[in-house]
Amino acid sequence: MAHRKVLIVDDDKLVSWALARDLESDDCRVALIADGESACKAYREHEPDVVLLDLKLPGIDGLETLRRLKREAPDIVVIMMTAYATVQTTVEAVKIGATDYIKKPFSYDELKAVLDRALQHHDLSQEVTRMRHRLKQEHGIGSIIGDADNMRHVFALIRKIARNDATTVLVNGESGTGKDLVAKAIHYESDRSQGPFMAMNCGSMPDTLLESELFGHEKGAFTDAKAVKKGLFELANHGTVLLDEIGDASASLQVKLLRFIEEKTFKRIGGTKDIDVDVRIVAATNRALDLMVKEGSFREDLYYRLNVILVNLPPLRERESDISLLTNFFIDQFNKEFNKRVAGIDPEALRVLMKYTWPGNVRELRNVLERIMILEDTQTIRVQHLPLELTQAPAGNESDLFSLPSPGVALSGVEKQLIQQALQRTGGNQTRAANLLKISRHALRYKMRKHSLST
Ligand SMILES: Nc1ncnc2c1ncn2[C@@H]1O[C@H](COP(=O)(O)OP(=O)(O)O)[C@@H](O)[C@H]1O
Ligand SMILES: [Mg+2]
Repeated sequence: MAHRKVLIVDDDKLVSWALARDLESDDCRVALIADGESACKAYREHEPDVVLLDLKLPGIDGLETLRRLKREAPDIVVIMMTAYATVQTTVEAVKIGATDYIKKPFSYDELKAVLDRALQHHDLSQEVTRMRHRLKQEHGIGSIIGDADNMRHVFALIRKIARNDATTVLVNGESGTGKDLVAKAIHYESDRSQGPFMAMNCGSMPDTLLESELFGHEKGAFTDAKAVKKGLFELANHGTVLLDEIGDASASLQVKLLRFIEEKTFKRIGGTKDIDVDVRIVAATNRALDLMVKEGSFREDLYYRLNVILVNLPPLRERESDISLLTNFFIDQFNKEFNKRVAGIDPEALRVLMKYTWPGNVRELRNVLERIMILEDTQTIRVQHLPLELTQAPAGNESDLFSLPSPGVALSGVEKQLIQQALQRTGGNQTRAANLLKISRHALRYKMRKHSLST
């Protein structure tokens, strides 16, 4: 209560003086007026946190005064005071936007309880507004650093997608290119920004668990289902769901997702009731889904459903001009985070960054800078601070690693050999072998069957 500003509008001088005295002894600042006509002017002058407004006033009455105050400041907190509250006037006052009301005569303690509640509510809703604003600033399109032409194209696309709420979106790009950032920006730039943003990695856990995370389950649907659980799609109602690493979705999950996207309705596991939700789906992947479709490891119908709009994020090596922007951005960020004062990077070191191929893209650049800023005590980042893989990287690109023998070679034979090598190196662990080959485990198993390698 302390240090709040209160405006009292009441023609009963005795009541308002007594009130003012009590409030002032609680360290509040109080202004008094006796009629509704001057309420708006007094509001502008004093900018109170709360208005105590008598219902019965000379001239324009309390309800009309309330109406005018609300027009002046829609967020205003107004408590109605009334000696003869009828249900009707109370309902009317709440409809117009009174926060609460209190019946005369009241004790100061009673009033304090009402005031505390109203102000708490007001503070909370202001906090929510501020948080939403901050979230939008933190995760909106402004959070994605870039000025290269191909990134400008991405920004324009994100804006269009955010305005048009109807479609699913597929975000494609190598690991570390900023797919998560794009998905969030789509959400926070759209009308859904008031709703939740939720993400699920489609390859992160066994199928049954994943399905129950996404769709929820009824009590008793399986042994551990001790209570009803809402899934992500329900929790994200009116918001956006990012299905990350969609290329890793199992065949069974693919079927369920397809049905959900087509019908926007689903059943909890073990449930019979259809549940409708309004969520936008953004799917992300670093794999070439079109190739997976050809290989038969990704459903064609799901692919077309997801791929209504495609956002293609270019790898970092194709936006060389952004490397300097990003570097300075991360230096600033880590200066704040680690309380450092690194001034920048010298031109030669920047050239090394611009020449490097960045297989891990922006994430790798960020990690490199983070490590330097933690470990090195320097004003300026120089070549000697850069990790060896950057300074000793073979010139040219990855394609030089493999050279085609002049008589040519059977592609499928090479593929089989590489798969065998990967499996050998990982002691037969398919998930890790798939990681080495940068394909999904499903794709690996598919290829193993194709090459008659035992799965
Ligand atoms: N254009 C960008 N501007 C600023 N930060 C970026 C940008 N792209 C990626 N990042 C940062 O790089 C990291 C990886 O991004 P993320 O969106 O998780 O990539 P992906 O999902 O494609 O693997 C995150 O820390 C992210 O904040
Ligand atoms: Mg990601």
